[in-house]
Amino acid sequence: MNKILSLEMVNITKRFPGVIANQDVNIKVNAGEVMALLGENGAGKTTLMNILYGLYNPNEGDILINGKKVKIRSPQNALDLGIGMVHQHFMLVPSLTVTENVALGINFKNKFKMDLKVVADKIKKLGEKNNLNVDPNAYISQLSVGEQQRVEIIKALYHGANFLVLDEPTAALTPQETDQLIKWIREIIKDDMGVIFISHKLKEVTEVSDKVEVLRDGKNVFSVQTNKTNVDELAREMAGRDIELPTVDKKNEFGDVVLKVEDVWAKSDKGTDALKGISLALKKGEILGIAGVSGNGQKELAEVITGFRKVNKGKINFKDENIVNKSIQYIIDQGLGFIPEDRLHMGTVPGFKVKENLILKDYLKYPFCKNFILKPKYIESYCKTTVDEYDIKCPNINTPTHALSGGNIQKLILSRELKRNPVALVASYPIRGVDIGAIEYIHEKLLEARNNDVGILLITEELEELLNLSDRIAVIYEGKILDILEADKATKSKLGLLMAGVKEG
Ligand SMILES: Nc1ncnc2c1ncn2[C@@H]1O[C@H](COP(=O)(O)OP(=O)(O)OP(=O)(O)O)[C@@H](O)[C@H]1O
Ligand SMILES: [Mg+2]
Repeated sequence: MNKILSLEMVNITKRFPGVIANQDVNIKVNAGEVMALLGENGAGKTTLMNILYGLYNPNEGDILINGKKVKIRSPQNALDLGIGMVHQHFMLVPSLTVTENVALGINFKNKFKMDLKVVADKIKKLGEKNNLNVDPNAYISQLSVGEQQRVEIIKALYHGANFLVLDEPTAALTPQETDQLIKWIREIIKDDMGVIFISHKLKEVTEVSDKVEVLRDGKNVFSVQTNKTNVDELAREMAGRDIELPTVDKKNEFGDVVLKVEDVWAKSDKGTDALKGISLALKKGEILGIAGVSGNGQKELAEVITGFRKVNKGKINFKDENIVNKSIQYIIDQGLGFIPEDRLHMGTVPGFKVKENLILKDYLKYPFCKNFILKPKYIESYCKTTVDEYDIKCPNINTPTHALSGGNIQKLILSRELKRNPVALVASYPIRGVDIGAIEYIHEKLLEARNNDVGILLITEELEELLNLSDRIAVIYEGKILDILEADKATKSKLGLLMAGVKEG
């Protein structure tokens, strides 16, 4: 394995049926440097990195390491050259442990005995050294999205990467974890590591990177030294226009309570108490923000309300009916919408076509279906309209959903949930991984739903998002609501303290 001193991608073009994902793209990164790769959802960032990691062959173009052309035909090739990649959507096997996942792909000297203990020890050491602590014996399926992300990073390091591609590594991290990661990246580049960092969060881009490359519609449109630019300019270059995020207009009248959670207890996947007597009430036409560092019960709260997790004690009234431990389908049919945290696996069936995912919850109902017979013409036109209306970028509605870019999958779920005219909506991290233009759009849609009397439970760690959209903000800490603030009395610093479990007075 050679040390990578410089890495270049030259005139890369990649075509998929119906789309040119990359067109004549050029990038160059040196050891000791962080390059941020920016662009709207679908701009071609992940595709370009998948080419670098040997997952796709480019139609045209070359990859040069230390000035010499290389062929990268598989991730194994890439790793052998020292290139590691942490994917936007995890590539971990949920039913295996952390150690087993990291061990996949290791060439053990003794083919008949994989010494997992050694692997586990090294994972622990790497974790401690890098502030990326994970339990080597935990099953992936038990880990939060943030923890899984850490496993991905450790896996790349374990395999000896000296050049790292991080595709939206912070999308699922807590603000504290993000800060740690940024610090860590600035540290590792001192050891001559090269890093390509993809993110839609422009503030952290300006903190972590040395230079920025912006793609639009698969082409290079802007490159700049980070210290010569700012967040607004980057947003403009990405979107091709100015962006202004909407904010909630204060109102004094709300509808009746539509969702009431009363003293609810539930376990986490690890079997510990995740919700410890949580109570809250959401009114029609209200956005109730749930602030908190992820891992404090947010995931479990969303899941008990939507029927994905068992409630051990307590009551959840939706439209005055106790829905505790009712089936998921029943709860959906009562008009509860859900934008889940893990959009790819819980929000969609990745192998299904775009149109199938768009009508996933209602395909057996009128007008999609009549007398048990699907109505393909209606479905086609409904889905085409939805894709246009919500600007879901895809070649067509028969494209498999997993081929869509991350942010476009998020828009697909949002459109499906909102077009069902829900009575209430549980929105978990709705802007995770979406570009700044799409954030503006999603926020407008959520506010529009609120103004049409939908009650929205907005779970997010983005303080700006909470403050812009919420009528009230509840802070969740260790499975309980620590405090509830009127949004106009909430500030970033107050929320920050509460999120850390500190309650004044
Ligand atoms: N396997 C595939 N088959 C067909 N089309 C694909 C495939 N992978 C990506 N695309 C298309 O290529 C384009 C670029 O997608 P890509 O995932 O690279 O975008 P991105 O910049 O990473 O976006 P995001 O910020 O949303 O992750 C999109 O139009 C996408 O639908
Ligand atoms: Mg991507």
